[in-house]
Amino acid sequence: MRIKFIAGNWKMNLTKTSSIELARAIARAIPNNVEVGVAPPFVYIDAVASVIAGSKLLLGAQDVSCEPGGAFTGEICVPMLKDLGVRFCLSGHSERRHIRHESPDLVSKKAHVIYSAGLTLIHCVGETLQERDSNQTLNVVRSQLSELNPTIISDPNRLVIAYEPVWAIGTGRNATDQQAQEVHAFIRQTLGSMWNPDFASRVRIQYGGSLKPENAKGLLSQPDVDGGLIGGASLKADSFLAIVNAAV
Ligand code: PGA
Repeated sequence: MRIKFIAGNWKMNLTKTSSIELARAIARAIPNNVEVGVAPPFVYIDAVASVIAGSKLLLGAQDVSCEPGGAFTGEICVPMLKDLGVRFCLSGHSERRHIRHESPDLVSKKAHVIYSAGLTLIHCVGETLQERDSNQTLNVVRSQLSELNPTIISDPNRLVIAYEPVWAIGTGRNATDQQAQEVHAFIRQTLGSMWNPDFASRVRIQYGGSLKPENAKGLLSQPDVDGGLIGGASLKADSFLAIVNAAV
């Protein structure tokens, strides 16, 4: 039985004050039987950590350096995140792949740095509109999953895959329930061949891309949809909590 995991990706939004208020409002309203996390901008992680201490809200990071520390101006390493109480971190978000041009090799390095440090890894995959239109969706997703090394990643509880079709992110246009389920089932099957079917059955697969209160119930009730990675709708307590409650 997979417990659903709803994570808010705040991206480069909010202020210190609004981050604290939002985290506090979410932390006090988390129902049972669902995992909930938020990934604030780096500079607000510490402030958020102090207001959610002792609550069930999991603290996350949106990105991390692939280096363990040292002379890398402007970067944040995984020991720093752990120091602040961060429990999960994203790798391969489409905005890093497509806007910041992170290569599959860099994404792969980051994924293994995150996992090897003991954090939960949310590895993001998903096709562009052009790739969907040319029937490349499953090939793209398979190749992005192949960035993960099964000899390093051995705990299915600390691996989460976020399927985020690029054309659905921030556009208001979500995948249909069937489109999401089709790719999620393919992801689970692929994980089964990379690891084994038992491992694959324990990995949570989140959907992301214009997930909002109005479409949450349908998407989250698909058999292979085990949660969501939420951008825009995670910036307000009401809409984020409505999605959280749709997952219970
Ligand atoms: P969105 O973003 O919910 O605003 O579409 C999702 C994401 O990028 O994780």
